[in-house]
Parts: sequence; C-alpha cells; structure tokens
Amino acid sequence: MIRSRLSLADANSEAQLLYRVIEVLSAGLDLDEIAQRVADLITETTATDVCFVHLLDPAGDRLRLRGATPPFGQFARRIELPLGEGVSGWVAAHCQPAVIIDNKRADPRYRYIPELRGEEFISMVSVPIMTRPGHLVGVLNVHTRDRREFTKADVELLGSVAGLMAGAIENASLHSRLAEREEAMERFAERIVLLQETERRRLAGEIHDGISQRIVSLSFHLSAAADAVATNPANTAEQIARAQQLAAGALDETRRAIAGLRPPVLDDLGLAASLESLVRSIPLPNVQVDTVTTSLPEHAETAVYRIAQEALQNVMKHASAAHVQLRLSVTADAVLLEISDDGVGFDPATTAKRAGPVGYGLPGMQQRAELLGGQLTADSTPGRGTVVRLRVPMAHECQTSA
Ligand SMILES: Nc1ncnc2c1ncn2[C@@H]1O[C@H](COP(=O)(O)OP(=O)(O)O)[C@@H](O)[C@H]1O
Ligand SMILES: [Mg+2]
Repeated sequence: MIRSRLSLADANSEAQLLYRVIEVLSAGLDLDEIAQRVADLITETTATDVCFVHLLDPAGDRLRLRGATPPFGQFARRIELPLGEGVSGWVAAHCQPAVIIDNKRADPRYRYIPELRGEEFISMVSVPIMTRPGHLVGVLNVHTRDRREFTKADVELLGSVAGLMAGAIENASLHSRLAEREEAMERFAERIVLLQETERRRLAGEIHDGISQRIVSLSFHLSAAADAVATNPANTAEQIARAQQLAAGALDETRRAIAGLRPPVLDDLGLAASLESLVRSIPLPNVQVDTVTTSLPEHAETAVYRIAQEALQNVMKHASAAHVQLRLSVTADAVLLEISDDGVGFDPATTAKRAGPVGYGLPGMQQRAELLGGQLTADSTPGRGTVVRLRVPMAHECQTSA
C-alpha cells in the first residue's frame, strides 16, 4: 500500500493519491459516498490517522459531517457545526486552511465534539473545499495521534485533494437537487389530478343529486299538467306552480354548483372586495379586515379566496375566538394573506398526522398554495390562537423557487 508522508518529498505517492481521488470522483457516486470514500482514501494513503469531510448544508449556514474514517463513519450526517464555530467552522467562514500542531484546546477556534474524541489526536490540518475562490462547498480535516509538524507542502497536497473534490461535490449536489425537484414536480402533477378529480366528483354529485332530480320532477309535474289541462284547470295550475318552484330550485343549484368552481363575486368585485364580503357572510365576532387591490391571475385569486374561506370557516368552527383579523397585502414580489384569531388554537404537529382527503381542510389549503408556487403556514399553540399565512409569488418569481 502506498503511504505518502503527506509530503511533497514523495512525489510518486502523492500522484498516486491524487490519481485515486480522481478515480473515486469519476465513479458517479452520490455526495455521501464521495465524502466517505475520499476520507478513507486519505487515511489509507497518507500518514494520518483520521479524516473528516464536512459539507456545507444547502442553506449555507452550517457544516455537516458527511464522510469519516472508521470508527467515526457512524456519525456521518449526525454532527453539524454552524459556520464560524470550531476549527472547521473557522476554516469555512474564512476560506483559509488552519494547521494546529499541538495543544488544540489552547486554540480559541477549537471546539470539543465528544463523539469525535479530539483528546486522542494531537495535530491537525483543516482545508476549505472550494469550487472557486470564496465559493465554499465543505471542509476537509486530517488528524494524527502523534504530534506532527505539518508542512506547507502537506497543506498544499490536501488543498489539491479538496480542489479535485469540489467540482464533483458541486455536481453531485446539483444532481440531487434536480432529482428532488423532479420528484416534487411529479407529486405536484399527481395532486393536480387528484384536486381535479375531487372537483369533478363534487360537480357530478351536485348535478346528479340536485339538479337532475329536480328536472326529473319538473318534467313529471309538466306531464301531469298537460294531462289535466282539458279536464281539471285547478290541478293544472297547481302542477305548473310546482314545476315553477322546481325550475327555480334547479336554477339556484346550478348557480351554486358553478359558484363552487369560481366564486362569481370575484368577477364582480375583485379579490379584495370579495374577501370583505366573504368575511361578512361568516358569523364571526370582532373581525378586522384590511385589504389592498392586487393583480393576480384568475386562478390565483380563486385559490386565495378558497384558502381564506376555509381558514375563516376553521375559525368559526374550531377557534371560539374573541377577535379575528384578515389582512391582504402586497410586497414587491408577492401577495400576502394573513388570517389570525385569538381562539383556543391547536397543536399543528398532531393535527398534521391526521391529514384528511386531498382537497379539503388545512392539507387542501397547503396544496392549493403549493400549486401556485406559494407557501402556506398555520402557526398555532393550544390556548394562544392561530395565524394562517399565505404567500403567493407574483408571476415573474414563480419559476425560481428552489
Ligand atoms: N383557527 C383554528 N382554531 C383552532 N383550531 C383550529 C383552527 N384551524 C384548524 N384547527 C384545528 O385543526 C384541525 C384541522 O383543520 P382542518 O384541516 O381544516 O379540518 P376540519 O376543519 O375539517 O376539522 C381542526 O379539526 C381543528 O382542530
Ligand atoms: Mg376545516
């Protein structure tokens, strides 16, 4: 086995290390496999005892251990460090290597992580993994049990390994983000179909149970009227009166079924006034309404209206609130809806577990929001009221949500 002294003195073994790193990186592995294999390779081929690979989390504010030499592999993904904390956090924040020859604990950058047993290792080198200057993707650390004077050349060699890894790590994380997004799109498509199905079933139900039943009876009364017209004028008049009632009822139901698709009030009044009228139609105490004119596409207006409707119905059904507030506002890039109450509240964690059928209740509100590329949150604590917040991005921003 090739054991470089982690020194430029042995150019051959150094080349071997870099060559094998390239082999690992070209194997098309995922991030965790890359981190793990490179950590193994470095300890195997250099005179060091452990190697840790910490990668930057997608949010960019913390490092997470992703690869480690045995026996530390078990902690992969379970140890994290905010940027700026510990030696690795310092290296990440400054994009500069750090070398500690001994007495780590005296170094103000050092932070003891019990699982990683720092007391067993004396010397260490930590280098940033960067795709280009200032663009950090992780940190690579090696430690030795014995005291070791790491040279500039050692640091450069590790820097070269980190440089090779950087591109592969960036590619692998882009790839996994793409895969996640693709999966999200598939789930989206499924939800749209489900929502459409729910909506169709509702319409079919209303037409079948309400409207067509009335038309059947209406036609029956008209036949009876036709039969009676020559002989019994009083009965004819009565049958026609019944038929008229049924026609009026069917018309009413047709209107309601259509209103279920897009509330006509939206076309008549626009979103802001429709929300105000919605609030007035639901029996709630002390409601404060603040709205502004918005310019959302029709389908987005319908979704915002439906979400407000469900949120207000929830307040009415569940909250026993003394005060309710609905606010519709706009920012430079989004429309915001906030419905808050000071009622009994609930525990969102337990409520989320018993999510109902698609298209209804809080899960339905969430799905509608997601279909718009927006976000919906329901913050609540038992006894402390509830706030439902919806953010709908304006058209130009819809595409960019990661
Ligand atoms: N404003 C609110 N105040 C108190 N509890 C609420 C409120 N909104 C929702 N909840 C709780 O969350 C649960 C789920 O709401 P939802 O998904 O709309 O279903 P549903 O209204 O059909 O029960 C409700 O049963 C209720 O316990
Ligand atoms: Mg509800």
